[in-house]
Amino acid sequence: MLVRLLRDLFQRRALLPSVRAEQPVPDVTVHEGKVDQHRKPNDQRQRLANAFTPTRPLAHSQTDSSRRLSGKDQASFIGREIERESIIRALTEDRSHVAIFGDRGRGKTSLANHAVAQRELADFIVARYVCSATSNFDTIMRGLLRDLAVSLAHGSSAVSGNNGRILESMPPNALRPNDVLNLCSRLRDVRILLMVDEFDRVTDKDTRTAVADTIKHLSDRAFSILFMIIGASGSPEALLGRHLSIQRCVTRVALPLLTQAQVEHLVERGAAQAGLEFSAAARTCIAELARGVPYMAQLLSLRAGQAALGNGRVTILGGDLLAAIEAAAIEADPRILILYARVTDAERDTAALAALRAAAAGPQDGLGRFRVVPDGPSIRVAGLQVEPAAWHRVLSLGAIEAVHDEGPDLFTFTEAMLPHLVLLRALLARQAAAEPASPRGL
Ligand SMILES: Nc1ncnc2c1ncn2[C@@H]1O[C@H](COP(=O)(O)OP(=O)(O)OP(=O)(O)O)[C@@H](O)[C@H]1O
Ligand SMILES: [Mg+2]
Repeated sequence: MLVRLLRDLFQRRALLPSVRAEQPVPDVTVHEGKVDQHRKPNDQRQRLANAFTPTRPLAHSQTDSSRRLSGKDQASFIGREIERESIIRALTEDRSHVAIFGDRGRGKTSLANHAVAQRELADFIVARYVCSATSNFDTIMRGLLRDLAVSLAHGSSAVSGNNGRILESMPPNALRPNDVLNLCSRLRDVRILLMVDEFDRVTDKDTRTAVADTIKHLSDRAFSILFMIIGASGSPEALLGRHLSIQRCVTRVALPLLTQAQVEHLVERGAAQAGLEFSAAARTCIAELARGVPYMAQLLSLRAGQAALGNGRVTILGGDLLAAIEAAAIEADPRILILYARVTDAERDTAALAALRAAAAGPQDGLGRFRVVPDGPSIRVAGLQVEPAAWHRVLSLGAIEAVHDEGPDLFTFTEAMLPHLVLLRALLARQAAAEPASPRGL
């Protein structure tokens, strides 16, 4: 049933010339595997929670100073070979700083952790700082230098000891770029990587300028200290600011969506780790709804697994997926729920809903962008005709925006998770309409 509803939701893509062929969704016969009687239910739930971790990035081991990804996280990491190689080349060969950018939940932090855990970067000492809205240059740099001191303290060599002592002499006043450069100039025989995550949350313009200045001066003086700036953003300029001075010394790594096959693989691997059975149809449903975003794939898989285990099964059935879809729609960020309600007038504006659904289910490029072109008196959104007035409402209420600098007809959702909410709600609405006649099967 769910498979058919999904097919309905997405099928019109197949009528469009530019659309990739729809993957057939196989019909499945579901065997109701039972929970292993010898394994305690809590163990099984714990295994599931370790296999699918929507709320946390794939992480380096907290206890392992060698920074390897924890064994499970290493095994869970899917794809990103090109991005990983580009980061490694930038840091080791080009001696360039790195900016990793892309929408929320795409896997920026996981990629950064995965990259620094590679053998090629083993001789970098890594320090991390996660920004908040109130972070300024001083808090960011102090946080990094403190973490650096901890990382150096793990090293037993004289070099680590000497460098550690240098960091103890941080000036008490608010740090400025020159203070940081002076400290850095005294560090010897180490290669250092300073990872600044969630940099998009820093609102203070002066802080961004001071970070850009520091990056520029470090490059000019050829210190072996490199920054990796990570943040949710559609462009490196939006993340770092338009500081022309640093354009040449920062390698930009855009994070694309995962492919459908990669998302299915992600679900399959997690299922194997959790000891659960997601049929091919269940994996396809999740991948279609995730639209290349690993966060959403992890969330739906986790919730479906929890629903199955709650019913004493290890096989995911249609009802479990539906429970996962309901949960994910409820758990959406309140900001996105409010935006959705405003743009659709609490789902009463059916023309606006149709425009949103066309954009959310239609063909998208690797960065989640879609085309909107005039079609006589009408307008085509990701290949589907929608009412021009409804389209303009959707734009003016801030759900979708034009992508500037890349031609007149390229658009994107303003919130990375809004298309998912649109799809989840569409599926739930269709399921509710079909419910009386059909049981909750796949
Ligand atoms: N390559 C990958 N393979 C498997 N799972 C991944 C991959 N990348 C990310 N994930 C999973 O997706 C979720 C989001 O990842 P992550 O936190 O790294 O994204 P992010 O882009 O840093 O998000 P945010 O913008 O909110 O900081 C996590 O559950 C993570 O485990
Ligand atoms: Mg992150």
